[in-house]
Amino acid sequence: MKHFTSIQDLGPAGVEAILSKAIGWKGGFPKHLADKLLGMVFFNPSLRTRASFEAVMARGGGNAIVLEVGNGVWKLEDRPGAVMDGDRAEHVKEAVPVLARYVDALAVRTFATCADDEADNVDPVMNAFRANSTVPIISMESAREHPCQGLADLMTIRETFGATKKLPVTLTWAPHIKPLPKAVPNSFLLTAAAAGCDIRIAHPKGFELHPSVMAEAGALAAYTGGSVSLTNDQTEAFQGARAVYAKAWGPATSAGLGAAELSAHSDWQVDRAHMAKAATDAIFLHCLPVRRNVEVADDVLDHPSSRVVDEAENRFHVQRALMDWLLNT
Ligand code: CP
Repeated sequence: MKHFTSIQDLGPAGVEAILSKAIGWKGGFPKHLADKLLGMVFFNPSLRTRASFEAVMARGGGNAIVLEVGNGVWKLEDRPGAVMDGDRAEHVKEAVPVLARYVDALAVRTFATCADDEADNVDPVMNAFRANSTVPIISMESAREHPCQGLADLMTIRETFGATKKLPVTLTWAPHIKPLPKAVPNSFLLTAAAAGCDIRIAHPKGFELHPSVMAEAGALAAYTGGSVSLTNDQTEAFQGARAVYAKAWGPATSAGLGAAELSAHSDWQVDRAHMAKAATDAIFLHCLPVRRNVEVADDVLDHPSSRVVDEAENRFHVQRALMDWLLNT
């Protein structure tokens, strides 16, 4: 049975196939999901992910059921051997196989704790869904990855520049008012590596991505002919970049992180002065939602080089292709 909770579930050839199909289908609405039912389980809020998956199912001739955990749905326990004497009334060991009896696939959104990098990297909730499901599990973002976002990011780059092999792209850390998950930067890194890009990552010291993600990206890049490099110098990272991806993420461990640490590095906010160091045809990407003038300045988001809305649209297109791969092939 297929699942899609990581870019590694596709690999470089699968990423290429999904991007090709998504671009090829753009503008058309084949009823390729007739009679298919998607269960969508949200542990956390969403705008784009929820709307785009519901649109994929409706446009494709199918349907979706949306469940918000803790909001009209029992709170779910995922820990093996848990003594369930708290507010989590149902274990995923029952909830997931029950839901799987009703639907053709289950899509799940859960976030990182942002307090324990090692625990988040193990992706406990998403893996509990995978382990207990009899239908395909799709990640709508987990503690470790947001692979649908990564596909949409690379589709946007592919549409702009054509080939992605050896394309210089920069992933830059950006400031925020609170520590955020690393799922989006992880998935951009893994997907860009699977597509053969030359990726530069820039972040302040202490905001390292998990070593296992860096190792996976390095292995993918070695296979595809791309590369991954790291710097703590944001200016250096922008030089010559054709695509700049900005995202806030938390430090390697945020335990005890105070207001001073959170407000540090405000000079990493991406503005036009930063973008001027990139290539003249560089595009700007962000997964959204974005905190204007905290993470990214208005003059970047409102500039013609910003592709953030196209990028959000492409969630729909890559997920259509993904659902076809999961349910029809
Ligand atoms: N990019 C993204 O996943 O957006 P939402 O959180 O609104 O779904």
